[in-house]
Amino acid sequence: MKLNIIERLITNNPIRALIQRHVEGPMLRKMGSRKEYPLCLEIGCGRGIGAEVIVRQFGAEKVIATDVDPDQIERAKIVLKPEYREKIEFKAADVMSLDEPDEKFDAVFSFGVIHHTEDWRKAVKEISRVLKHGGELFFEEPLRVFMDNLLVRAFTRHPKGGRFDYEELEGELLKNNIRITGVKRLGNIAIFGTGKKLKASH
Ligand SMILES: C[S@@+](CC[C@H](N)C(=O)[O-])C[C@H]1O[C@@H](n2cnc3c(N)ncnc32)[C@H](O)[C@@H]1O
Repeated sequence: MKLNIIERLITNNPIRALIQRHVEGPMLRKMGSRKEYPLCLEIGCGRGIGAEVIVRQFGAEKVIATDVDPDQIERAKIVLKPEYREKIEFKAADVMSLDEPDEKFDAVFSFGVIHHTEDWRKAVKEISRVLKHGGELFFEEPLRVFMDNLLVRAFTRHPKGGRFDYEELEGELLKNNIRITGVKRLGNIAIFGTGKKLKASH
């Protein structure tokens, strides 16, 4: 689901970029098990800061950075620095039905996106489908208790089908062959984590 005006202001601003570059990126990087992730997918890339982080901090040679909102993709293309042009490709795509082959990516990134989908289980299924066996998922997501908060509900627009608690997310990932390998919880508010796609179906 596209962002409303308040969410756009929260997302497309320099403070969010600073947090992504200097807090979330390094924190998730430490949770990963590999030195480099050559081919990466970012879902819900917004204005594209995450894709830069993936190149700089995760050693990606190529990032396919996607967003369901074509306006966000246009914004990301415009602000992309020239040194990233060879490595980052932006394209509009819905994480619930990705136009990508099975087992293509070394890593998939969701910087606050799965909770925006109408059916988060569909998103998890698609993420697992396009992830190589042994590939890793990096994610940062708010949890159900936070999403159900009155203020959050009043000022932001999120589909009901995007709400989950930690145990539900962990279970659904495992059902789709991804085992959580590292996690940092901000109480019941948000979760930062990584998971690895297992070799055989579980
Ligand atoms: C909270 S913003 C996060 C943007 C960026 N990742 C960041 O951290 O600044 C959520 C983004 O997910 C996108 N989005 C929402 N639903 C989506 C879907 N079904 N598939 C792909 N992207 C989606 C929105 O358009 C928005 O850009």
